[in-house]
Amino acid sequence: MRIVDIIMKKRDGAALTEEELRFFINGYVTGDIPEYQASAWLMAVYFRGMDAVETGLLTRLMMESGVLMDLSDLAGPLVDKHSTGGVGDKTSLILAPLAAACGAQVPMMSGRALGHTGGTLDKLESVKGYTVDATEDDLKRIIARAGYALIGQTAQVVPADRKMYALRDVTATVESIPLITASILSKKLAEGAQSLVFDVKCGSGAFMKTLQNAEILAESLVKTGQAMGRKVIALITAMEEPLGRMVGNFLEVEESWNCLQGGGPDDLMEVTLALCSKMLLTSGLCKGSDEAMDLCLQKIKSGEGADRFRENMIAQGADWQWFLDHVGTWRAPVKVEFKAPRQGIIHEINAYKVGMCALGLGVGRNKADDPVQPHTGLHFLKKRGESVAKGDLLCEVFALNDQDARQALASLEEAFRISPDPMTPEALILKEVG
Ligand code: URA
Repeated sequence: MRIVDIIMKKRDGAALTEEELRFFINGYVTGDIPEYQASAWLMAVYFRGMDAVETGLLTRLMMESGVLMDLSDLAGPLVDKHSTGGVGDKTSLILAPLAAACGAQVPMMSGRALGHTGGTLDKLESVKGYTVDATEDDLKRIIARAGYALIGQTAQVVPADRKMYALRDVTATVESIPLITASILSKKLAEGAQSLVFDVKCGSGAFMKTLQNAEILAESLVKTGQAMGRKVIALITAMEEPLGRMVGNFLEVEESWNCLQGGGPDDLMEVTLALCSKMLLTSGLCKGSDEAMDLCLQKIKSGEGADRFRENMIAQGADWQWFLDHVGTWRAPVKVEFKAPRQGIIHEINAYKVGMCALGLGVGRNKADDPVQPHTGLHFLKKRGESVAKGDLLCEVFALNDQDARQALASLEEAFRISPDPMTPEALILKEVG
């Protein structure tokens, strides 16, 4: 078998067989297939797509590229949630401790920044000492202490996704339904969760820009996951403007901590609580939506969610005192303010443009080995639907240098649209699938 023939077959639109997919995955993981041929293969899949059978095979082969975690000796239902990627999307950092406080065990294998979207692992690593590399034993130890763990793919667990994820990020091959399905599910299946909740983002800041495409992705995730024997639900949620008020690595961990203490912005809390409630329902911890929602709110009020967050930080190596000392103050050195150019109502804060602006500040990567900046980012003081006077502060930018700061201000000018007409932002929870 030759990789060139497999690339050619996919380029010409034919479905690949299990043997061909295995040849590609194994060869890429071992390094026998070089990055340039893997890039060509990804681009061929991006343009030609995959049918449901191929997507299922790709998912299983990626999952089997490494060891499978066995967490069956942990008490409590194993449940996880994964987002298809958004801007300011930090719901995992809030709902994992909340679900744990409600009695779930959450073995969460997450991703890094991808394209214009942020990455949970990059956010967490902005905290001094926090490590996302974990063996199965580490995972069990962390979950036993905190009720949840947030880890990355490793050379042992789903190495195929570890390599392909990084390559897709820098080869413009992210927005592909089969590649997203296989990437997400291979991780979720390898980590051993029994039930899964997906947050399929839809809108300017999502990989799926239309509801129709978001529905196709949600169906693909739900059907492939169910075929692998898991209980799966997907919520399609709006990603038109950044979720919450912070976009950046440390900034988003800080905002999550504030949410767990009851200070969360409405939009972020609405999506987080909807997803967390679904985790409690799919895992059987709650019987009805009202009960699940009440339990989540109670765990915020009692401080048990915040306790879990602290325990997880410590269990994963973070310097907790360092974190507390830096909350509210740790910002990149150059601060500039973006002010309203005119009076009116904010109609748009284009999430894609904000994501690209954050990328320019170093929140994500342009090349696979680029470092990410921990303390750059954006703080939005106004959201869509709010009325503003000329000169009102809309957003604070934290940059490494003057040039990045100037560039960010120019991007924000493009991202914001202010008009005299009234506007009401669309619903956040658009649809449930599964
Ligand atoms: N999250 C993932 O893990 N993979 C994708 O492809 C997109 C979002």
